[in-house]
Amino acid sequence: MKTTIARIQVAEYSQLPERMGQAITVGQWEIALFRLTNGEVRAIENRSPHPKGGVLSEGLVSGEFVYCPLYDWKISLRDGTVQAPHKGLVKTFPIEIEGDRIFIRMEMA
Ligand code: FES
Repeated sequence: MKTTIARIQVAEYSQLPERMGQAITVGQWEIALFRLTNGEVRAIENRSPHPKGGVLSEGLVSGEFVYCPLYDWKISLRDGTVQAPHKGLVKTFPIEIEGDRIFIRMEMA
C-alpha cells in the first residue's frame, strides 16, 4: 500500500498559548496542539484513551505530559504513552516549525 506524507499548516506559533491545548481538525483526525514551557510544540490525538475518555486539549500540561481532564491519567506528549498505573497509547503527530508557522506531518492513505 502506498501512503503519501502530507504537510499541513495548522497554526501560528505566536498565537499558541503556552500549556493550553488547542483543538484542531486535520483530515479525519481531531488533534490537540500544545506549546510546552520549553517552547516545543506537540500534537496528539485529541481523545483520551480512557474508555469514557474526554478531550485532551482541555487537560493540564506539566512539562512533557498532559493530565486528562476527567480521570487524571498522565499521558506523554512525546510518544503518547499513558503512564503507569494506567495503560494505553495515544497517537502523536510530528510537528515542524518554520518561522511562525506550525505544520503537522501526516500520512494520507
Ligand atoms: S478521560 Fe482522559 S484518561 Fe480518562
